[in-house]
Amino acid sequence: MSQRVKAYRLERYRTPSLNSWGEEAPRFKREGMKQNVALDCGWGKLIFGQTFPDHDSLIRIFTEEEKGERNLAVYVQDHHVLLTRAPDLLFVDPSDTYRLWLHHYRYPKRRFSGFEIRMMQGEADAEQVNRIYRKCGMVEAAVDTMIENQKTPVFQYFVAVDKKDGAVIGTIMGVDHRMAFDDPDNGASFWSLAVDPDRRARGVGRALVRCVAEYFLAKGRDYLDLSVLHDNKKAVQLYKALGFRRIPVYVVKRKNEINEDYYTGGPRG
Ligand SMILES: CC(C)(COP(=O)(O)OP(=O)(O)OC[C@H]1O[C@@H](n2cnc3c(N)ncnc32)[C@H](O)[C@@H]1OP(=O)(O)O)[C@@H](O)C(=O)NCCC(=O)NCCS
Repeated sequence: MSQRVKAYRLERYRTPSLNSWGEEAPRFKREGMKQNVALDCGWGKLIFGQTFPDHDSLIRIFTEEEKGERNLAVYVQDHHVLLTRAPDLLFVDPSDTYRLWLHHYRYPKRRFSGFEIRMMQGEADAEQVNRIYRKCGMVEAAVDTMIENQKTPVFQYFVAVDKKDGAVIGTIMGVDHRMAFDDPDNGASFWSLAVDPDRRARGVGRALVRCVAEYFLAKGRDYLDLSVLHDNKKAVQLYKALGFRRIPVYVVKRKNEINEDYYTGGPRG
């Protein structure tokens, strides 16, 4: 392999969010990036750690978390140091982060049948999304927040709808990092993937992930990230099959009632 090809491949495979945190990089002084970005997702805040100039302002966001919310911070620079500053408040979630470089995405030979995927529209859809979250044991989201978010270029909520009975059977929330904080790494992520437990293993989950990947590819984004509990075998298998690979990025959460099992080593921890 020629040196040029090798260098090109290395460049494409690098993990920008991490490389750019190198010693030489000016810490959090990356031109154009918005600061202190925490997106209200209706179930809590999605906090982009790299946009916070210091750990204290990040900790402040967590102290303001309301009961029933489940904030999470991702891409935190030196998360281990953050934890020593607030050990009673915060913990590292047992989730892994996976990334798909969108130039690696391969379109499927065959498309799904039996259901369609479209943008979430209005209150009725948002309520159906919550019904699925509830069935999956996930934290529900404020309906009005979801509806307001959907009107912005930052969020894209998609739903899978059964062609037979019109029921919403799956959901996913895409987040455009470029739109959220002028991400210099030009990335995106998805959150809250869920399929109605009565309608699983029909390709709905896979189709929703593909839909978000194709959406961000069309928008010219470079990568798509996600966070998943380390032992969620079904989901991890799905992601790996689509080309996602693990990256060394971790999620920090607050020690609240919802997360209790994960920081006390309880049944789910
Ligand atoms: C993970 C989840 C979204 C998968 O949805 P789904 O519609 O059942 O998945 P699909 O039918 O599209 O399956 C895609 C792949 O997932 C994996 N998978 C799905 N069901 C599986 C099962 N019962 N056992 C093992 N692997 C399974 C397989 O890799 C499958 O590929 P295959 O079709 O080649 O076998 C669904 O189980 C779910 O909603 N779980 C609860 C919420 C959750 O964990 N969300 C992920 C958060 S990161």
